[in-house]
Amino acid sequence: MGNEPVNVKEYQELAKQALPKMNYDYFAGGSEDQHTLRENNDAFQRIIILPRILVDVSKIDMSTTILGYKTSAPIMIAPTSMHKLAHPEGREILTAKAAAACNVIMGLSFSSTCTIEEVASSCNAVRFFQLYVFKRRDLSALMVKRAEMNGFKAILLTADTPKLGRREADIKNKMIAPQLKNFEGLFSTKVDDSDGSNLEAFASRFMDPSLSWKDIAWLKSITNLPILIKGVLTREDAIKAMEVGVEGIIVSNHGGRQLDYVPATIAVLEEVVAAVEGRIPVLFDGGIRRGTDVFKALALGARAVMVGRPIIYGLAAKGEYGVRRVIEMLKDELELTLALAGCPTLNDITRKHVKTQTDNQH
Ligand code: FNR
Repeated sequence: MGNEPVNVKEYQELAKQALPKMNYDYFAGGSEDQHTLRENNDAFQRIIILPRILVDVSKIDMSTTILGYKTSAPIMIAPTSMHKLAHPEGREILTAKAAAACNVIMGLSFSSTCTIEEVASSCNAVRFFQLYVFKRRDLSALMVKRAEMNGFKAILLTADTPKLGRREADIKNKMIAPQLKNFEGLFSTKVDDSDGSNLEAFASRFMDPSLSWKDIAWLKSITNLPILIKGVLTREDAIKAMEVGVEGIIVSNHGGRQLDYVPATIAVLEEVVAAVEGRIPVLFDGGIRRGTDVFKALALGARAVMVGRPIIYGLAAKGEYGVRRVIEMLKDELELTLALAGCPTLNDITRKHVKTQTDNQH
């Protein structure tokens, strides 16, 4: 195959060629000046790896557990919305099948274009369900129930979206989002906004901006599934998350799509990890494009990383095969990084295997 990508980044160009401009811009874009979007990638480049030599790396083991679930690598699929815009027929089902084939955990977005049931019945990957809280709490509660009944193993509560970030490409393109499948028959998610992005109009009509820490008790009262809070960027919020008793934290800035000028996630990971003191797992997302990025996040204390856009680009370019290749390439690169850094297992990775800019100042 002439256009077979040799790294994950090359899938982006293929996706751009394959997709209508509105869809590509929706996936690729960030909010406002897109400073955070760029920083998520650039900040990785300022971190240096310090390898150890003469370590027996003839056997590398990348497997680990996340919330007790075994996975082939510390790499997960981040929940991203509306895979139909990347692959009209296959949608999230193909992503889920690829997750199963690669034995990694899949995060399914609340805003999916296949139903919870369709995804559950199409694959046996371990799946976590991402939750948004609507003003109509009963609808969000119903989604949690459906996820629970369909064998999802955790709730990822996205906490950085009381309102939708201002994504100017979508406004310019007058973005039209498809019907969100989980709500079909309940209500139409196609809110009209002829002046801008209908997604923004949808979010401002349905999302509950009053959601706050006290509502974690409500969420806990309606499910027994473990809850992870997605969107933590500060030590203060990490401590609050532990106080309200969630089972995990996801350091995330929504891939630079919410508040612009928040820090790159890799720049704040260590602060959050230090606050948590090992009491609950800290997952990470934002800008993972290389096995070396995964290594750096693990060295700074992440239990595992989630990958967003590259998965969508793989799906858009080559369907299920593309998603599989994206995951496999990241796994292969991580395996090589572990070998070359002298770390036969994930437990061998230490803070001393990386040097950040803060280290340089000391
Ligand atoms: C997202 N993300 C996201 N997060 C979430 O909690 N619910 C969602 O529905 C979505 N939807 C979504 C759509 C698209 C197109 C993107 C790019 C992202 C955020 C996602 O889970 C994750 O935090 C970021 O994608 C991670 O950054 P990278 O890997 O894309 O750089």
